Amino acid sequence: MRNLSRHPQTAIHVRTVSKSFGHMGKHALRDVSFTVDEGQFAVLLGPSGCGKTTLLRMLGGLIEADHGDVRVHGHAPVPGPKIGMVFQSFRLVPWMTVAQNVNFALGPLSLAKSERRDRVHQVLGRVGLARFHSAYPHMLSGGMMQRVALARALVCEPRVLLMDEPFAALDAHTRELMQNELRRLVDRQGITTVFVTHSVDEALILGNQIIILSPRPGRVVEHLPVKFRDRAAHDDPRDQIGFAETRKYLANRLKDLVLNDPGSDFYDPSRSPNTMSARHIVNMKDPDTRSGLHTTGDVVAFVKH
Ligand SMILES: Nc1ncnc2c1ncn2[C@@H]1O[C@H](COP(=O)(O)OP(=O)(O)OP(=O)(O)O)[C@@H](O)[C@H]1O
Ligand SMILES: [Mg+2]
Repeated sequence: MRNLSRHPQTAIHVRTVSKSFGHMGKHALRDVSFTVDEGQFAVLLGPSGCGKTTLLRMLGGLIEADHGDVRVHGHAPVPGPKIGMVFQSFRLVPWMTVAQNVNFALGPLSLAKSERRDRVHQVLGRVGLARFHSAYPHMLSGGMMQRVALARALVCEPRVLLMDEPFAALDAHTRELMQNELRRLVDRQGITTVFVTHSVDEALILGNQIIILSPRPGRVVEHLPVKFRDRAAHDDPRDQIGFAETRKYLANRLKDLVLNDPGSDFYDPSRSPNTMSARHIVNMKDPDTRSGLHTTGDVVAFVKH
């Protein structure tokens, strides 16, 4: 029998998507295309304002593309329990407790009361908030509220998870704990994830693939498969061969987009180009094919042109 797991299905399909806002028809996204296979973890990286949140909102079925096509499991996405979303703002209901906020997300599912209770209890434990189930949002720190928002997205056991800078408000240690927990969870449940972050380290620790968007209008400038997350659970991905080089490459790539892309808020044509990052990018590419990123003979990421 054919091993289907070796031929993963495409879960998310974004094809030549463009989106403008306002009377001036300003392009937020132009001609964006990529796919994410079932169970994969894609990270969107790009300067502020490049359209990452807009893209996530489209994947969640909250807004529509002007042109192009967005498909999740073969259909136009519809907001609901199959697609979990964690937004930049927490959107907790202030008069509900932590447990009630999480339970509220289970609304559309027909579950027995005891199963609801068990699920809420379990997911609050995973995000480290079991002791705060009766607290109200105003009694929580920003990081705790963000973890309630994560619990609310996970409790429905979604097939797709869309996350917009979900760990930005967490302290470094809690962030690392949450990254590990998220990685375990999405791997165990085979959840397809699209995750937005400004942290290059976080992108490399969590992602199977990194999609870099340019400043306004957002366009895909690179789509890199990465493999640092496939380590054994006890290994620190930062110790792996190629991690430091790939991190440097990505940081320079982003810096280059912010300083040298004409769409950037910080582009200044009178300034000479940021040659240091440009030189670094050239050095990081394979000298023969100029299409790959090699470290001591081990391919850690490929760069598509
Ligand atoms: N509802 C809206 N009406 C008008 N313009 C909008 C709207 N939503 C987004 N935009 C514009 O679209 C562009 C992309 O915004 P978006 O929020 O997707 O960026 P982002 O990449 O998520 O930025 P950040 O990293 O700062 O969160 C911006 O220029 C923004 O001003
Ligand atoms: Mg955003």
